[in-house]
Amino acid sequence: MSSTLVSNISELVTNSDPDLGIIKDAAFVVEDGKVAWVGSAKSAPAADSTIDARGRVVTPGFVDSHTHAVFAGDRSADYLARMSGGSYSSGGINTTVQATRKATSEELRSHTRQIVERARRSGTTTLEIKSGYGLDVESEKKILTVAREFTSETTFLGAHILPNDVKNRDEYVNLVKGEMLDACVNLAKWIDVFCDSTAFTVDEAREILKAGISKGLRGRIHGNQLGDTGGAELAAEMKLASVDHCTHVSDSTLEALAANDVVATLLPGAEFFTRSLYPDARRYFKAGITVALASDCNPGSSFMTSMPVIISMAIRDMYFTPAQALYAATMGGANALQRDDVGHLKVGAKADYVIWDAPNYLHIPYRMGEINAEVHS
Ligand code: NIG
Ligand code: FE
Repeated sequence: MSSTLVSNISELVTNSDPDLGIIKDAAFVVEDGKVAWVGSAKSAPAADSTIDARGRVVTPGFVDSHTHAVFAGDRSADYLARMSGGSYSSGGINTTVQATRKATSEELRSHTRQIVERARRSGTTTLEIKSGYGLDVESEKKILTVAREFTSETTFLGAHILPNDVKNRDEYVNLVKGEMLDACVNLAKWIDVFCDSTAFTVDEAREILKAGISKGLRGRIHGNQLGDTGGAELAAEMKLASVDHCTHVSDSTLEALAANDVVATLLPGAEFFTRSLYPDARRYFKAGITVALASDCNPGSSFMTSMPVIISMAIRDMYFTPAQALYAATMGGANALQRDDVGHLKVGAKADYVIWDAPNYLHIPYRMGEINAEVHS
């Protein structure tokens, strides 16, 4: 078992506490892919090899806990319509469904690879990927099979929207929680439902989530993106891992989320690209909620992967402090995925880390996606 000492670190973000657990003039040792020792460079033990960080800042790799990275087709016309004064329509999902159904696995794989590699270049070392652009049994299976080649954090989102070719809602809900779930259950860790005004109702979401959970999946939800429509309350009622978007939410619901340990995953890219109002993160922190930040990478409402850019948006437009934003994009994402081995660099963590071409972590948001990331994982 060989060991590597990473030394000469100006500032090491360990995330040992929500203030980032920063150690100045730091070093750490990696053994067998895990962090084996962390501390001051002066007291670092000897190791078989050394990486010289040359006075740069080191953070844990980002944990992007919400992406829809497997898809085909183009939605730039939707973007143009919105930037010309139109509003976001979840119906655009069906455009992507048509293209994704037609795409071969190889086409999806090579497109997804580009997205995942781009995410990695900006510091993402753990990434969740949802289905949801197939919406029939074979296409959902095809998407999850490809997603699984890139991550163990896969999510079955057969209940993304009612597909255009289905007229009967009840029949579709039954398909999702029956045959489609059976075909997808072994390809996913998570089940998700888009519960909102133009997607699925709270009762439909409850039924579908219960079916998935009874088959061993863990539950999360897209809720309260388009309005205060009950998804977040359902997340608290069912003690789901996370409610994602969570934009329009009352104080009492925030308290219920905190009381039930539900993570609120905020997605500033979606607000940015749909020109929607941002939630004020200060309300979420005041309620004592664990907050995550994720990219929501998808072709409709947030076609981006850069977590440094997400952090910059969250600080400027959602009133995160820089430390809160960095923590939410690393440890918060790990919490949303119920992972304790990533999102931090305490002893025992997976050695997923980024050496940034910068003297301190503030440069990550301050230079909004402009700093070179040397990614190790
Ligand atoms: O998370 N809100 C639902 N789903 C995606 C958007 C999907 C799309 O527009 O293609 C989201 O923003
Ligand atoms: Fe989403």
